[in-house]
Amino acid sequence: MPVTTETPVGEIASNFPLATRVFARHNIDFCCGGGAPLQKACEKRGLNVDEILVEINSELEGTQDATKWNDAPLTDLIEHIVSTYHVSLKEELPRLEMMAKKVNAVHGEKDPERLQAIETVFCEMKEELLSHMMKEEQILFPMIANGQGANASGPVSVMEHEHDSAGDALRKLRELTNDFTPPEGACNTWRALWHGLAALEQDTHQHIHLENNILFPRALTS
Ligand SMILES: [Fe+2]
Ligand SMILES: [Fe+2]
Repeated sequence: MPVTTETPVGEIASNFPLATRVFARHNIDFCCGGGAPLQKACEKRGLNVDEILVEINSELEGTQDATKWNDAPLTDLIEHIVSTYHVSLKEELPRLEMMAKKVNAVHGEKDPERLQAIETVFCEMKEELLSHMMKEEQILFPMIANGQGANASGPVSVMEHEHDSAGDALRKLRELTNDFTPPEGACNTWRALWHGLAALEQDTHQHIHLENNILFPRALTS
């Protein structure tokens, strides 16, 4: 089901979690104002709906582009991974961390163990992912770009191990958030955090897929 100017923003947020990044960027309310069609929600914020649609579609396209990377030059694939996934992850991790801390601080008493666990698991994962991306950008990706990929089996196996660890953290977050379903009566930040975590999971799965299944095997045999 494609997103149109008439699709209610709440429906867009549940069917396409990555679109919530665009909503967050422009302060479009998809929680309380979730029933409003995209057109109305944009008018309310003085935004051009066509430009917002383009932004939404470009967030969603990232998830459909796996196939062409089997043949593209490795340097293009690296550039794509960094500009699509690393850049947005560096933007999302601090934003979601702030929200996880806020929800725990304000609503902690409603579900103390889980909200604390979500904050702890998320903050650990954030630190790991930031240092992981730094290693890729400063060590492994330059090796691959310089044609040294065949000698990179050491760094590659470290990266794969760290991907497993991120995958475990995301699984825990999914469990702790009841498959990213906000509880009845959850406030806007709480809902936006759940949507943001769902989008992060989807995006990170795609990101890791491109590295584990395409970039690394191709680099090792290059
Ligand atoms: Fe990466
Ligand atoms: Fe990675």
